[in-house]
Amino acid sequence: MKVIIIASLLVVALALPAPQTGPAPAVGQSVVWPIRPYSYAYEISDPPSNNFQNKAEIKNANGDVFGSYSVLMPDNFIYTTTYNVTGLSGFVYNLVKTPANPAAAAATTA
Ligand SMILES: *[C@@H]1O[C@H](CO)[C@@H](O)[C@H](O)[C@H]1NC(C)=O
Repeated sequence: MKVIIIASLLVVALALPAPQTGPAPAVGQSVVWPIRPYSYAYEISDPPSNNFQNKAEIKNANGDVFGSYSVLMPDNFIYTTTYNVTGLSGFVYNLVKTPANPAAAAATTA
């Protein structure tokens, strides 16, 4: 079985504030953690097991998160979820279902 996983983790080290030092916060004291931008992506492509999926996500300096992931499901459709979290929006997503083989799908529905 051959599985190809491509992963990258890019931390924008230059944008990071210095690590926090000093005494731990007292119980009940709120702590504001700094925003740490990042991005990563991976892809799995394994024809023998029909395992095809990928994901990518990025967090920018504002703390907004954008990402998407796709999975080929047993019904031969690719399910792609695109999502974001911006400001106080909470987790907002959109799911799209597309035929893995559009020509075959068109032939069966014609
Ligand atoms: C967040 O995702 C939703 C659903 O896909 C989309 O309608 C909206 O435009 C996105 N917001 C941003 C800021 O990209």
